[in-house]
Amino acid sequence: MRKQILELLRNNMQQPVSGEDISNKFGVSRTAIWKHIQALKAEGYDIESVPKKGYILRGTPDKLNPEEIEAALKTKWLGRNIRYCESINSTNELAKKAANEGCADGLVAIAEEQVSGKGRLSRGWFSPYGHGVWVSVVLKPPFLPQEAPKCTLMAAIAVVKAVNKYKGVKASIKWPNDILLNGKKMVGILTEMNAEFGKVNYIVIGTGINVNVPRDMIPEELQELAISVADAAKEPVRRIDILADYLKNLEDLYETVLKKGFGPIFEEWRKYNNTLGQEVKVISLGDVYYGKAIDIDPEGLLIVQKKDGSIEKVIAGDVSIRPANAKGKRYQ
Ligand code: BTN
Repeated sequence: MRKQILELLRNNMQQPVSGEDISNKFGVSRTAIWKHIQALKAEGYDIESVPKKGYILRGTPDKLNPEEIEAALKTKWLGRNIRYCESINSTNELAKKAANEGCADGLVAIAEEQVSGKGRLSRGWFSPYGHGVWVSVVLKPPFLPQEAPKCTLMAAIAVVKAVNKYKGVKASIKWPNDILLNGKKMVGILTEMNAEFGKVNYIVIGTGINVNVPRDMIPEELQELAISVADAAKEPVRRIDILADYLKNLEDLYETVLKKGFGPIFEEWRKYNNTLGQEVKVISLGDVYYGKAIDIDPEGLLIVQKKDGSIEKVIAGDVSIRPANAKGKRYQ
């Protein structure tokens, strides 16, 4: 009932809906309606009660709960199943648990805060309450396990398009999937896979978007390395809008892959990347070398030409890529 009342108010956003109309529509007393309105207010909905006119929904809470997501979602199937927690260790863990229990393709696991957010290369991911989008998507692609890493490129494009909608934000992709602005990290993506010989059971694409993380909240050692969408846009940004755009872009790109393969994804990735043409330092397991990033190959590997002219192909996941002249600590 509360959900339906909210939907009615949302459909008439900024317009009064009379208590009488609501009670007639749902066949309950006006006192019962009043109680639901009080409960919605307690959840953070800004509802004005105007004598003789009714209730006006003025604003919605900055929450990424299923009600808010469903109201904002523009997808056909992706994100139509949601696992939501206020606080969780890691949304990737939540998504993997759902997948192991046999959840639907396209399930989204999301939390307001992660207390043990996971980053690439066994690092952590700072995920403070209510300041970012910490989300993981379960996909069950019909392709071979070796194709799955290319899905991170797809997620990177989906998210860079979502954040670049804001004025002043011109982020780009550092191979394979870090989203940077002015050399600082705005978004990180961690893809995990469950597969057996010749078959992907599922992949989980975990995306951490620094949306409104205030600088003084960021641990000191990361302050120079991280940037929020709001810092670049110079105004607070609604997390729900970024999430809805990201999921819609991801669904569209994934459907393109299913129809046409990864070719169009590589093309689009090239448009948004900031790695090709750069001198890079490749830090692989026990090996460090320098070269120029010249392209990605049809498998999504980074092609690096070393100083002696020889070619190396770099697999995502094993390595850290830095600008050739980089010094000090990074979390990319
Ligand atoms: C990186 O190191 O760049 C990857 C960071 C990925 C963070 C996201 S936040 C949502 C999901 N849950 C996690 O624990 N990690 C990913």
